[in-house]
Amino acid sequence: MPQPIVQKAEAMQVDPITSHPNFDLTESKIAINGHPIHAMSVAFPVALTFCTFGADALYWWTGDLFWARAAVWAAGTAFLFGLAAGASGTLELLAVPGIRKRAPAWTHFVLAVMLLSLLGANWGYRMGGFESAVLPYGILLSAFNVLAVMMTGWHGGKLVFDYHLGTSKRN
Ligand code: HEM
Repeated sequence: MPQPIVQKAEAMQVDPITSHPNFDLTESKIAINGHPIHAMSVAFPVALTFCTFGADALYWWTGDLFWARAAVWAAGTAFLFGLAAGASGTLELLAVPGIRKRAPAWTHFVLAVMLLSLLGANWGYRMGGFESAVLPYGILLSAFNVLAVMMTGWHGGKLVFDYHLGTSKRN
């Protein structure tokens, strides 16, 4: 019996992305013994972004100059470690064909670049006087950065846990 036209057309449809020969090549290349450097390095900017907000809040609460100084150091190191984490992530994105081909990897990239510019702004803003910068705009920027890092990190986790990007295929 001849195949109905609709079924025939469906059978002929090919997704050019998923049918790409390298679509399943998703193992990390920027890694130490199979452990992705990006996954290891993101802990630092994530934690330091939270520390910046924590130090700002403690300055607001206590008025102790120590916390305003701690906040400027946390903001600067969050940005610098963020750049390093971003560099390893970008190399991974460009070097691994199965990661490069997936739209969610690029969504994470866009979120991360926005986060890095916010982290840089939070540090740069404090250069004009780290104590006067905290209230109100420094702490507001820190609070916003906490939300941004949570979104970026959550999305990065999605790449690993939902799409298994960067994970080893060895058993
Ligand atoms: C700027 C460019 C960035 C790119 C292109 C990028 C790309 C990636 C990729 C491809 C993965 C999948 C795992 C792997 O292959 O290593 C990933 C995971 C992840 N990324 Fe990024 N990333 C970037 C920046 C960032 C930044 C700035 C943060 C947070 C500060 C971040 C947080 C995460 C987290 C939390 C994971 C999950 C790690 C895990 O659970 O193992 N990424 N990223």
